[in-house]
Amino acid sequence: MSGLRAFRGELLSVGTDPREDAAAVRHEADGMLVVEKGIVIARGPFEEISPRFPDVPVETLPGVVVPGFIDAHVHYPQMDRIAAHGEQLLDWLDRHIFPAEKAFVERAHADALSEAFFTELLRNGTTSALVFPTVHEHSVDALFEAALARGMRLISGKVLMDLGPEGLRDTPASGRAESEALIRRWRGRGRLGYALTPRFALTSSDAQLADAGQFLAAHPDALMHTHLAENVHECAAVAERFPMAADYLDVYDRFGLVTDRSVFAHGIHLSERSCARLAESGAGIAVCPSSNLFLGSGHFDFGQADRHKLKLGLGTDIGAGTTFSMLHTAGLAYQAALAREDRLDPFRALHLATAGSARLLGIADKVGALEVGQEADFVVLDCAATPLLARRTRGASLAERLFALQILADDRSVARTYVMGESAWQRTL
Ligand code: GUN
Ligand code: ZN
Repeated sequence: MSGLRAFRGELLSVGTDPREDAAAVRHEADGMLVVEKGIVIARGPFEEISPRFPDVPVETLPGVVVPGFIDAHVHYPQMDRIAAHGEQLLDWLDRHIFPAEKAFVERAHADALSEAFFTELLRNGTTSALVFPTVHEHSVDALFEAALARGMRLISGKVLMDLGPEGLRDTPASGRAESEALIRRWRGRGRLGYALTPRFALTSSDAQLADAGQFLAAHPDALMHTHLAENVHECAAVAERFPMAADYLDVYDRFGLVTDRSVFAHGIHLSERSCARLAESGAGIAVCPSSNLFLGSGHFDFGQADRHKLKLGLGTDIGAGTTFSMLHTAGLAYQAALAREDRLDPFRALHLATAGSARLLGIADKVGALEVGQEADFVVLDCAATPLLARRTRGASLAERLFALQILADDRSVARTYVMGESAWQRTL
């Protein structure tokens, strides 16, 4: 039994959508998790599981143990531009974001930000992510190297933007060649995956979008990751440039970019037609409520998405997003839903932040639910992290505690983060 690790604590996961599956919420008030070589090999009530592993030392986890969070949309180069004042999307990009991304021409800058980024992810309990880097090829190398060193499951790919500003522009040919080189260099290493990453319709020429479609078809193991219908001025500019397209999604569709491997961030302003097409294609949306609030983009329409049974995950969208905490992001998703008179159940919100995002990213067989056979990425949440949280959760039901964590949480709520069963972060308060 050597090489096994056992953990005892309150276990909670929501592997499927609780609106569709009465057995979606899995909760063991006194549970046990056994891990071998980073993989969960047993999970259940402590009194049932522990007799099977009599010689394995047990580590007690002080809090509610949930699957590691999965951030379905985040920009690592933008973390130092959080809280940039004054603009909606297009002006915010010009004034704050493009200058920050230009600094990634220096590899050392990309390395430094990658280090800081992973520290922030782990501090907030995020163990997997789909990440925007910059147009620079080495921005992906820096990120992947840092992920590999931490053994983390991470998906990224060079940003394509041949219509970007001076200093932040590639060409269809260089974008393709660098994407091919990156996928060759990184395929099969650690827990990394590649995502073809055109920034959005406005920063790529028709030639680059067409080439991206060919790349996606040629690489069946790659995701496609971009932005969609975030801001009204963006949508107007897209409609003006592509008058022949039925709507914003149709622009991507015409270039072969709408598939069951496509992840679109935002989707705030979606036509009924595009929702039907998303559902039909199997593409999904990374919902990013803190970003949508910060940039004045609007509120995601859960009612519309649910009528179409869209595949959804949750993203922070740092640095338009204002928190790395996926728990807090889940609480903001509740508030975005309520603004449109929809209700987001706290268990569904946890599902979106874990297994929902995993499904969106095509990694649900590996992470997101702490089931036997999955990788042992998990987080220990502290319901008494702050005096207010302690008061609000004392004697409360599981649903109330989870909701209070989502509404009141920040990085202090994460006591510990484990990657493949190994401690990767421990809070010191
Ligand atoms: N659309 C195109 N680029 C970006 C970006 O960097 N952030 C957000 N929120 N939207 C975008
Ligand atoms: Zn984004």
